[in-house]
Amino acid sequence: MNAITHHNAIVADRGASGAPPVLEVERISKHFGGFCALNDVSLSVPAGGLVGLIGPNGAGKSTLFSIITGFIAPSEGTIRLRGSPVDTLSPFARARAGMVRTFQVPREFSHLSVRENLMAAIPDQAGEHLFDLFFKPQQVRIQEEQGAALVEETVDFLKLKRIADLPAVKLSGGQKKLLELGRVLMTRPSVILLDEPFSGVNPVLIAEIIDRIIELNERGISFLVIEHDLEALTRLVGRLTVMDYGTVIAEGAPQAVLADARVRAAYLGGPA
Ligand SMILES: Nc1ncnc2c1ncn2[C@@H]1O[C@H](COP(=O)(O)OP(=O)(O)O)[C@@H](O)[C@H]1O
Ligand SMILES: [Mg+2]
Repeated sequence: MNAITHHNAIVADRGASGAPPVLEVERISKHFGGFCALNDVSLSVPAGGLVGLIGPNGAGKSTLFSIITGFIAPSEGTIRLRGSPVDTLSPFARARAGMVRTFQVPREFSHLSVRENLMAAIPDQAGEHLFDLFFKPQQVRIQEEQGAALVEETVDFLKLKRIADLPAVKLSGGQKKLLELGRVLMTRPSVILLDEPFSGVNPVLIAEIIDRIIELNERGISFLVIEHDLEALTRLVGRLTVMDYGTVIAEGAPQAVLADARVRAAYLGGPA
């Protein structure tokens, strides 16, 4: 049994332990004017799980991420985080509750260094509030020290030390994806949604990003991952959900899902 198979077995065991799913997408629909981008989509991510979300361009994957994380409102349906509905919470409040996403196109501050980008991603620093600066200077100092320590820990973990003081604009596509992952780690999340973490990334760095995601998963962070690189994705996830034209057309173990005739027809362009 190789390391990844073993890892997926651990995740399956945790899923079977009776804990509620960390994330539940329940009957989500979204209309843009007369266009139906999502039609009655349901899926879930078990606590400690690693789930892949695939489908052709325009299937609605990124729109679903935006709805899950609160950047756009659904027309219908509910999102639950550890069993509780989060529909009325802002993206910021959902991040504070432990759920964060990355974007298909990384959104780093290009003129800031890697370290500064990480620092800027720490939520709710007390020093941002004048009241705290005047009346709780000690607390502000402690939070700043903790923030700086978390930044250094993350720089080490993602092996970004060598480029930590470079402006983000100088990074390669893969390094930007690592920084994007680092930025979401600043919120100490329990579930991370990754939108195409391997796109524009060279194979060496893809392997590196996979290792880091697996390590984070072993520390208890759950993942939902949109990715077109199926070879890389199936090295990572134990379950796949497939979308086409705004609906879920298959889900299950990667091998079974990718052999499904409907999936091959829709996604791989192969014979139905
Ligand atoms: N804000 C929007 N207004 C209108 N149509 C949109 C909007 N966002 C996405 N869409 C449409 O919804 C569909 C799904 O898009 P998207 O979620 O980006 O797909 P995917 O990420 O699977 O490639 C596409 O047809 C896209 O053009
Ligand atoms: Mg997309």
